Amino acid sequence: MSTQKAIQISKTGGTEVLEINQIPIPKPQPGQILVKAAYAGVNFIDTYFRSGLYPVQLPFTLGSEGSGTVEAVGAGVTKYIPGEQVVYYGTGSYTEYINVPEKAISHIPEGLKLEDAAAILIQGLTALTMLRESYEVKKGDTILIHAAAGGTGLVLVQLAKALGATVIATASSAEKLEIAKQHGADHLVNYSGGEDEWVKEVLGYTKDGEGVEAVFDGVGKATFEGDLKVTKRKGSVVSFGNASGAVNPFNIGRLGDKNLKLLRPRLFGYVATREEFDHYTQELFGYLKNGQLKLNIHKIYPLEDIVQAHKDLEGRVTTGKLVLKI
Ligand SMILES: NC(=O)c1ccc[n+]([C@@H]2O[C@H](COP(=O)([O-])OP(=O)(O)OC[C@H]3O[C@@H](n4cnc5c(N)ncnc54)[C@H](OP(=O)(O)O)[C@@H]3O)[C@@H](O)[C@H]2O)c1
Repeated sequence: MSTQKAIQISKTGGTEVLEINQIPIPKPQPGQILVKAAYAGVNFIDTYFRSGLYPVQLPFTLGSEGSGTVEAVGAGVTKYIPGEQVVYYGTGSYTEYINVPEKAISHIPEGLKLEDAAAILIQGLTALTMLRESYEVKKGDTILIHAAAGGTGLVLVQLAKALGATVIATASSAEKLEIAKQHGADHLVNYSGGEDEWVKEVLGYTKDGEGVEAVFDGVGKATFEGDLKVTKRKGSVVSFGNASGAVNPFNIGRLGDKNLKLLRPRLFGYVATREEFDHYTQELFGYLKNGQLKLNIHKIYPLEDIVQAHKDLEGRVTTGKLVLKI
């Protein structure tokens, strides 16, 4: 049986649990496309699977998205043929070959490079679906985006600007804030001085100090309490990640103080069907094509450097997207 390299974990923990193993190359099942991978995107969620924050069955092959070339297709697949370049999401993308269902794959539009396609899918779709569905951003809104120089953050900033919002961006250093500014952020707040300070600064950028229409927060534990303070009456707190740890259990009665809406969305609930995935993927590619969305790849790491990639992402030394070359 032919085998391939795969980055796996057989126990949860720090980067020391990452293993490069040999596993069988799968055959495409009905409705599936077997892809020879070229690149995989690195996402914060991969570190949650590795650390055990999100429990998975072990051994587990890491990776959540990638790009490559169709190698073979299963019965019933008519839209894809071997040799075509594709981008996809799905568990186990830190591998040389991956089977992907038709509802999670898309042709790469002409002019978009394989590494760029792998860099944008999950973070781009996350940002886009949240801005459309978690809180529908409207022209004239003032919104707060945390970790704005991160992979998802930079996409959120650019798409929120494209939708006509005023963007307040937070990050942990002046260099990161400058990058957020270059991508369109209007107001910059360094949140490393602590909650009292950043909350005051954010409110100072809002009309009559009343707060923002919505907060988009992938930082989690460290910023959640402040989010409740900077969101205006009837506003929305969109808490979508745990970069600093999971948000503590929360008493929903507290939302009544300002009639806030609190959401905890996952991308896969917004692109669960093929129609939804196609709709948002095409819209995302449209923003790339018309220049309203620019890619920002921090670094392309060889597959063998996965430990360094995870260390860099968790160590807050990156801006934009990390990509693995398979
Ligand atoms: N719900 C969904 O479906 C979904 C989908 C995609 C991503 N996400 C979430 O979106 C967030 C961003 O993901 P990403 O892949 O784009 O990563 P990223 O933003 O590129 O990196 C995470 C950033 O979080 C900030 N951060 C704040 N406190 C941190 C801490 N204690 N440790 C590490 N980082 C910290 C850092 O920026 P500063 O140094 O500026 O603070 C860091 O650069 C994650 O929480 C992820 O889980 C959710």
